[in-house]
Amino acid sequence: MSFEFIIPEIVDPNGVDGSPHPRPMDVKDDQSREEKVLETDGEPITNFYGNSNPYIDYESIDLLLSLQHPRSQGYDEMCFIIMGQAKELLFKSLYFELYNLQLRIRDDDIANAFVIMDRSKKILKLIVNVWDVLSTIRTDGFNQFRDYLSVASGQLSFMYRHIEFILGNKNKHMCEAHSNVPHVYPALLKNFSSPSIYDDVIRQLARNEFAIDAAALDRDWTEVYKENASVEAAWLKVYSDPTPTNELYMLGEGLTELADIFSQYRHRHFVSVERILGFKPGTGGSAGVGWLKKAVDHRFFPELWTIRTEL
Ligand code: HEM
Repeated sequence: MSFEFIIPEIVDPNGVDGSPHPRPMDVKDDQSREEKVLETDGEPITNFYGNSNPYIDYESIDLLLSLQHPRSQGYDEMCFIIMGQAKELLFKSLYFELYNLQLRIRDDDIANAFVIMDRSKKILKLIVNVWDVLSTIRTDGFNQFRDYLSVASGQLSFMYRHIEFILGNKNKHMCEAHSNVPHVYPALLKNFSSPSIYDDVIRQLARNEFAIDAAALDRDWTEVYKENASVEAAWLKVYSDPTPTNELYMLGEGLTELADIFSQYRHRHFVSVERILGFKPGTGGSAGVGWLKKAVDHRFFPELWTIRTEL
């Protein structure tokens, strides 16, 4: 892109409260809203005092919208930054759901696990669709700001790594890459060292009287999960009754769909990267598409894929 462009002014950063902590706010109830509507004659409130308003304060919106700082003269960099930040937020939303999905499974509360699973899949689909926007960045546009990334790369996304770990794709190097960041590393290390959702699902199979090897029920959770014959046998038995009333079957299918959508995400990233970068090395020190190819072939919940051949 070679035309001149303008970044419109939205927020004066000098007026923003930069604290990441929640801002104090009143709590209202139905009665106070009834009283207010009489006072306003049914029109929305438009007179606020101080230097903010409750909408801004509830989600620190002025702070959120002050965090987009293109460093180059490239037109596409603003799009890249905002889509990147949108993805980080959506990954955080997904992680919150997955974390609680795991707790529901641990509690044998499958009804609520299904509700959370449904939302998780929808959030993940939204993340996949962000690639529709990102892939409008063409090679020449990306080259205009690429140098300014230095060695920054999505591989360093700790939010993405949380998702990979809770779903079961443990990677020591990718965890340790954050060991110098004291406000991020402890939570990531805890997640890395804890059972994944799939580990909890396997324990649930055992609670349902399926014969699962002890090695699959208690192990070093930091180790990469290895396919296990007893887990595959259990899923085969579950899948011998492929009906909607079979909760474990529906759970297996829900997890498979989640893994399927995640594979679509990795594939979209991979193809977009090949389209934008060709076979140039990545900014993060990797060989680029060649390195990403391995990630594309990865599948979460391996036995839920291998059983298909036997069914
Ligand atoms: C649109 C332009 C993009 C390009 C050309 C690109 C390119 C790459 C490359 C080459 C890698 C390999 C590692 C390295 O950098 O050496 C990588 C990894 C990665 N990128 Fe991107 N990326 C783009 C956008 C994004 C965005 C917006 C995100 C998410 C916020 C993202 C997330 C990731 C993640 C999580 C990895 C690590 C993958 C894994 O561990 O399996 N990328 N990217």
